[in-house]
Amino acid sequence: MSFLSLIFFFSLLSLSLSQPPPLKGLLIDCGATTGSIIDGRAWVPDAAFICTGTPKNLTTPVLNPILSTLRSFPSTNNLRKKFCYVVPVYRNAKYLIRTTYFYGGINDRDSPPVFDQIVDGTFWSVVNTTEDYANGMSSYFEGVFVAHGKTMSLCIAANTYTDSDPFITALEFLIVGDSLYNSTDFGKYGLRLVGRHAFGLSGPIIRYPDDHFNRFWEPFEGTYSAPTENRNVSVSAFWNLPPLKIFERALTTTKVQPIELSWPPMSLPNSTYYIALYFADDRNWSSRVFDVKINNVPYYLNLNVTPAGACVFAARWPLAGAVKITLTPAIGSNTGPLINAGEVFEVLVLEGRTTTRDVIALEKVKDSLKNPPLDWNGDPCLPRQFPWTGILCSEGPQIRVIALNLTNMGLSGSLSPTISKMTALTDIWLGYNSLTGSIPDLSSMKMLKILRLENNQLSGEIPPSLGAIDGLCELFLQNNNLTGLVPKNLEEKPGLNLKTSPGNNFVSPPPP
Ligand SMILES: *[C@@H]1O[C@H](CO)[C@@H](O)[C@H](O)[C@H]1NC(C)=O
Ligand SMILES: *[C@@H]1O[C@H](CO)[C@@H](O)[C@H](O)[C@H]1NC(C)=O
Ligand SMILES: *[C@@H]1O[C@H](CO)[C@@H](O)[C@H](O)[C@H]1NC(C)=O
Ligand SMILES: *[C@@H]1O[C@H](CO)[C@@H](O)[C@H](O)[C@H]1NC(C)=O
Ligand SMILES: *[C@@H]1O[C@H](CO)[C@@H](O)[C@H](O)[C@H]1NC(C)=O
Ligand SMILES: *[C@@H]1O[C@H](CO)[C@@H](O)[C@H](O)[C@H]1NC(C)=O
Ligand SMILES: *[C@@H]1O[C@H](CO)[C@@H](O)[C@H](O)[C@H]1NC(C)=O
Ligand SMILES: *[C@@H]1O[C@H](CO)[C@@H](O)[C@H](O)[C@H]1NC(C)=O
Repeated sequence: MSFLSLIFFFSLLSLSLSQPPPLKGLLIDCGATTGSIIDGRAWVPDAAFICTGTPKNLTTPVLNPILSTLRSFPSTNNLRKKFCYVVPVYRNAKYLIRTTYFYGGINDRDSPPVFDQIVDGTFWSVVNTTEDYANGMSSYFEGVFVAHGKTMSLCIAANTYTDSDPFITALEFLIVGDSLYNSTDFGKYGLRLVGRHAFGLSGPIIRYPDDHFNRFWEPFEGTYSAPTENRNVSVSAFWNLPPLKIFERALTTTKVQPIELSWPPMSLPNSTYYIALYFADDRNWSSRVFDVKINNVPYYLNLNVTPAGACVFAARWPLAGAVKITLTPAIGSNTGPLINAGEVFEVLVLEGRTTTRDVIALEKVKDSLKNPPLDWNGDPCLPRQFPWTGILCSEGPQIRVIALNLTNMGLSGSLSPTISKMTALTDIWLGYNSLTGSIPDLSSMKMLKILRLENNQLSGEIPPSLGAIDGLCELFLQNNNLTGLVPKNLEEKPGLNLKTSPGNNFVSPPPP
């Protein structure tokens, strides 16, 4: 039997034994032109989910074919503009979103650019892959978010540190079980992974099929002894559904003494965190009772760990800086403490969503433009620092679009009548473009003050309904192809600064 077929035989065997459920979700290979199957999972090319950016092939060889392509976005003149993937999702389903970045020297600079990633209207994190790339590794980021609509967006944006074009290598949207991390109110919060480790593990990352949702459990050896034998535990019904494999190894001590871990292994920003710690003993004859403290603050006292296991979690725990986990044997405990795994997420406050009415109307406005701005994807107003080009939004809990300014943007196409549904607009500035078609009925826009459509190629007549907008105080229509009569109610409207000439083809009003 050849070596290769032996491997095949073993992998077949392990698959048939464990029968993991198939992963549900979408795996997107950014920059790829064809799909691929890797470890039995199908990756699709990204063109169906994004209309901006440039697909690129790395020139250096990589082992993982997913890392060989990426999509790159122009950074010049694009500070604080987001470029978004828009992905179909199941409303109210819980998603693990994973982004992967591998720079591969694509920008002819030694170090990768630093930039931002955004999910829906919420700033997710800064993407700094410098250290991983220097070590020859790709970087991944993971978050857990609930879909609040039929699509979700994942956006890349240049920030003030960005010194070359941002990029993305892979994007995964995986549906996870309802019970996972369900102490979090996903209507208000999202989770940003900080660390997920299997303690005492030295081998490769634990992932699918051991973890049914393909979460990555990284090895964390620590300095304490780890039992090497397979552990015989019978845990079940943990809401977070951790892979059983994390219970095969543990950090423990041979003496009855405390364990002190610097974990997660990085300094944390001052924020609120979701923490879950996993424990299971392989011996049912010992009494393994200990206190768990985080930075000397009691987290769980007199934890009695048995083969049935325990998961202890905190939904909102404040942390800042370095973190120290201490496991101290309880008085009378005849064995040292033990820990198998842990997860820490930063709790992100979701920044909200632009009012649906405005979002739907803007999509229609976008569709009727032939060349809308490249960053018109994702949430129009949020995050606050990253609104769409030419959009100004209101403050406060109900987020409306209050101004649209696309003056001199080289736009062609027409102005969708649906713009009249954006009833919070006070300013529409669309002058100096190449818009064609007629001026829609805007009389429902009660807040409208300024309408500037000068220097386009609009045709047809001026709708007299414009005169019904009480607060309208500036109307510029010169240099179009308008015809008919200038409505009398506009000409006589008090306080209106009206410009209709030169450059139109109005007929003169009949002599009185
Ligand atoms: C990348 O490589 C693939 C396969 O060789 C090719 O089809 C595609 O056109 C290349 N893309 C670019 C942007 O060069
Ligand atoms: C990115 O990470 C590197 C290495 O950790 C660090 O030196 C650099 O300051 C970081 N850049 C930014 C903009 O945070
Ligand atoms: C979380 O999921 C578990 C298992 O389905 C359920 O028993 C529990 O009530 C859920 N908790 C919340 C807060 O929804
Ligand atoms: C594992 O546990 C089962 C029952 O819980 C027991 O029958 C079996 O002997 C144990 N195996 C080892 C290696 O301890
Ligand atoms: C973290 O922030 C909170 C509120 O902003 C503040 O009260 C607390 O002192 C900060 N903690 C540290 C360690 O900086
Ligand atoms: C411990 O496990 C053994 C078999 O593995 C079983 O016979 C015994 O009842 C268990 N003891 C307790 C206290 O659960
Ligand atoms: C709209 O944009 C133009 C050109 O960039 C600028 O001159 C004008 O002041 C802007 N109007 C508003 C209301 O910001
Ligand atoms: C608008 O009018 C100009 C000059 O009258 C003409 O050249 C142009 O073709 C017209 N454009 C449209 C879209 O009607």
